[in-house]
Amino acid sequence: MIIARTLTQLREALDGVSESIGFVPTMGALHSGHRTLIETARNENGCVVVSIYVNPTQFLAGEDLSSYPRKEEADFKICELSGVDVLFYPQTLYGTDEVSVKAPDIRGYILEGASRPGHFDGVLTVVMKLFNSVRPTRAYFGKKDAQQLALITQMVENFGIPVAIRPQETVRESDGLALSSRNVYLNPSQRQEALKLSCALKESTKLVMGGVLSTATITEAMYAILEPLEVEYVAIVNRAFEAISEVVVGDTIVLVAARVGTTRLIDNVWM
Ligand code: PAF
Repeated sequence: MIIARTLTQLREALDGVSESIGFVPTMGALHSGHRTLIETARNENGCVVVSIYVNPTQFLAGEDLSSYPRKEEADFKICELSGVDVLFYPQTLYGTDEVSVKAPDIRGYILEGASRPGHFDGVLTVVMKLFNSVRPTRAYFGKKDAQQLALITQMVENFGIPVAIRPQETVRESDGLALSSRNVYLNPSQRQEALKLSCALKESTKLVMGGVLSTATITEAMYAILEPLEVEYVAIVNRAFEAISEVVVGDTIVLVAARVGTTRLIDNVWM
């Protein structure tokens, strides 16, 4: 595995590559969810590139940028054992007074973007930089970050970036907890409380399977399960992230964001 720490090293590693390039952008603290993305990239491409970069522009003031879990040694091992060809591990990707990408208000400043205004501008800007540096054939993103995925897909379309976005299912613990690098912040009792998110989502699926399509009814049932967590939002939207009053199977995402202690967790189901 080649470790590229600068853009020049990255281009040196990739310039002679004639096979397809599968790219998994990450912020490190790799878990089984990332491993699944890397495995899929490995199966579908001749060359696999992973980036590890805790992108400062997607953190708001007061968020966990400085304490975000960093596990360099373990992450390098996971990449090596997963058959990654090139690990891009830059110190920084930014200069001063740079041009940046702006998410549209309608998808970028609602839900996650309402709680974290500007977060998606930072995500899109760094992903644009990474795409232009790696020049991947395919890029792999988890459905857990559904809004991020929708915005990146839109950016690729709007800017004509020649990459295929390959969304991947959320990976869960056996009890349903969605894997997240932030789960390490949870103590055992908080981890138990965190299960309310996936339980509420399971309930939404059960209701829809039972013929209940009213989003107001489903939202109410989810809040009852999530109690007494500090819920930031429960939202039922179509794939374009527009609010809907009735679930349309095949075009609906149910999302939840809640705080467990001081840890902010998100989860969703696509139906
Ligand atoms: O999903 C993430 O880990 C990050 O938002 C990403 C896409 C690597 C951009 O920093």
